[in-house]
Amino acid sequence: MNKIDHYAVFGSPINHSKSPRIHRLFAEQTQQNLDYVAQEVNAENFVAAVTEFFAQGGKGVNCTVPLKELAYQFADIKTERAKSAKAVNTLALQIDGSILGDNTDGVGLVTDLTVNHGIELENQRVLILGAGGATRGIILPLLDQQPDCLVVANRTIEKALTLAIEFNHSLEGCGFHTLENRQFDVILNATSASLSDELPTLPENLLAENGVCYDLAYSNTPTTFVRWGKLQNASKNLDGLGMLVEQAAEAFFLWRGVRPDTKTVIDLLNAERSV
Ligand code: ATR
Repeated sequence: MNKIDHYAVFGSPINHSKSPRIHRLFAEQTQQNLDYVAQEVNAENFVAAVTEFFAQGGKGVNCTVPLKELAYQFADIKTERAKSAKAVNTLALQIDGSILGDNTDGVGLVTDLTVNHGIELENQRVLILGAGGATRGIILPLLDQQPDCLVVANRTIEKALTLAIEFNHSLEGCGFHTLENRQFDVILNATSASLSDELPTLPENLLAENGVCYDLAYSNTPTTFVRWGKLQNASKNLDGLGMLVEQAAEAFFLWRGVRPDTKTVIDLLNAERSV
């Protein structure tokens, strides 16, 4: 019997999601018999939609904005990285019928930085801009890389300070003005400012020589932060397309036990946006 397994990404808005494309490419490449669709689901109808999806025999769901915290609450069991993120982007049906919640965003980012772009994080000074959900999802995997320091700077300082307490001061929380006279080897933009074409005001010389800039958001045209990185002469100036594909690969691995080749998919998506 050639039974097809069903997967989906839930979120709102969801019509521009690249996830169905990515997972179908993975499935084709690894010869997995599955389909993967995008479903418009908002916070109000999330529980009903996800319950129905699994009741109909669905095997796994990715959750994106604004559902990651709700997915965290929905999951019966959670991985360590989901617990530290307090957010879930991947739900997976287990053999006993329970639902596992995982967060593959942080590992996706770290894989893109270290494996795809050869950027070492060990002993590096790493700065994250923003202290919202996106930041929460990447802290633990970044700390695992043993940076020299990890600083979270946020417009609302209290949120950065709260994160520092929550992570036992293994990171430093501050406001943007406190960054004056400091330098970082890697600056990650995890604010949602890029999406509205904004950028926090950042001090001069914040990026060390040969430093790297990485925007967790991605776009077909350079984001505000990517444009800022160019002005700072960043040695590498990247957006989150690679992270998107890598977090998807990690979810695919969780579901199927097979690791797809991400490079061909990243190259394809990059080629498509540069035409
Ligand atoms: P996400 O899940 O994308 O992280 P979020 O949890 O709403 O979304 O967090 C958005 C982050 O972007 C926050 O850190 C927010 O700063 P505040 O905590 O001060 O609100 C930050 N952000 C959004 N727009 C911004 C802007 N124009 N300038 C600076 N920071 C901004």
